[in-house]
Amino acid sequence: MYTANATASLLARRLALFPLTTAIAPMPGDGRTALTIGGCDLRMLAAEHGTPFYCFDAATLDAAAQAYQSALARHYPGESAVTYAGKAYLSRAMAQWTQRRQLWVDCTGAGEIGIAVAAGVPRAHILVHGVNKSDADLDAATAHAAIIVVDNLAELQRLTPRLLATENPPSLWLRVRPGVAVDTHAYRQTGQEDSKFGMSPQEIMEAVHHCLRHGLALHGLHFHQGSHFHDPTPIGPALEIVLDLAAELASTTGWQPRALSPGGGWGVAYHEDDLPQPDVDEYVRFIALGVVAGCRRRGLALPTLHLEPGRSLVARAGVAVYTVGAIKQTATRRWLFIDGGMADNPRPALYGARYSALPVLAPERAPLEPAWIAGPYCESGDILIEALPMPAMEAGEMLAIPVSGAYHLAMQSNYNGARKPAVLWLDAGRAQLIQRRETIADLLTRDADLVL
Ligand SMILES: Cc1ncc(COP(=O)(O)O)c(C=O)c1O
Repeated sequence: MYTANATASLLARRLALFPLTTAIAPMPGDGRTALTIGGCDLRMLAAEHGTPFYCFDAATLDAAAQAYQSALARHYPGESAVTYAGKAYLSRAMAQWTQRRQLWVDCTGAGEIGIAVAAGVPRAHILVHGVNKSDADLDAATAHAAIIVVDNLAELQRLTPRLLATENPPSLWLRVRPGVAVDTHAYRQTGQEDSKFGMSPQEIMEAVHHCLRHGLALHGLHFHQGSHFHDPTPIGPALEIVLDLAAELASTTGWQPRALSPGGGWGVAYHEDDLPQPDVDEYVRFIALGVVAGCRRRGLALPTLHLEPGRSLVARAGVAVYTVGAIKQTATRRWLFIDGGMADNPRPALYGARYSALPVLAPERAPLEPAWIAGPYCESGDILIEALPMPAMEAGEMLAIPVSGAYHLAMQSNYNGARKPAVLWLDAGRAQLIQRRETIADLLTRDADLVL
């Protein structure tokens, strides 16, 4: 049984996961309260757009970008830039937002390049990643990017004739595999020796010689050790390895990186047990001090420092809103079934991601026994949240899951014929539809009849 104090404390901690503008407002003509985000009443949005829907709070996005930009200005004396890792969620509107904040956009392959270009992101702000870039990816990157991050030697061979045949080719960075990963789920580690990403220091040497031989515009070194980590410590040894390599390259070839990127990956709090929110300033400071000291010790000029956050820019700004349907009691579990699940958020099924939630109506209600919040899809793994203390809820009530802005919509599927949800942009009391809900007709647009 939750006391009034325990209930208030739980509510405060859950609200700290939601966007900065989230409030509990009295409903006009009704004694009850409801959640609002960006000055918009979630119940009104559901009445207009249906559920499930996702919404992004512009003020929270702006604050996250500002946190990176001001931390870099505070701690790094050289040039710097923030690149939004579009893999977290890219749509026309999100790409347009990046330009309002003077961010670069990291695109993985031709598809994301296409979205960024359609959104009007200028070439000067497009950077392309990818571990096994297809010919189409390389063509799109050559045509539209300012920077291509080369993952492997075979890619460099395939890219070279394209670059030599292009009047104003993108410049290149090389992706180093430092042999050190950050502490995160194994599926999200990328820096370890056996990772599928990047080149060994030996391969980087070879790649630099290749670029110099062919007169390619080689400008930078990149590494990324994994995604959703809370402790920056493993960046230290990776930075040492990469700066040692840079110093060796400077002494043997005369080439020095003008740009250095230690990738992205800073974590966020998904559940009240994860609070406080990981501090962006601490992360940026750790990297900035490491780069400055490491370059000074080796006599290297300070490179432009590019950071590449995805999740920590957009996750907290996004909220998923669902309607409760069936409610079931089994031997030990209270099930709340909602109208979305693993099709719009595969993260719990993919790597056991843990979430929290609040009812949209009267979120201050005291929790009862734990609830298992599950989706409608035909997999027993389609459970978004396990054993979360929640109040008694009725069919037809809405429930909001915070920290839904990264790697949900980007990884969603049409499993069981699910139609991808509507996405709204909330800004100072105004809601804009930035992606409409899919229809059954959308599910059929790629299909052709079988001719017998
Ligand atoms: C090269 C690169 N940069 C940046 C990111 C962004 O990571 P996150 O969204 O965790 O910040 C990733 C994610 O895996 C990545 O592979």
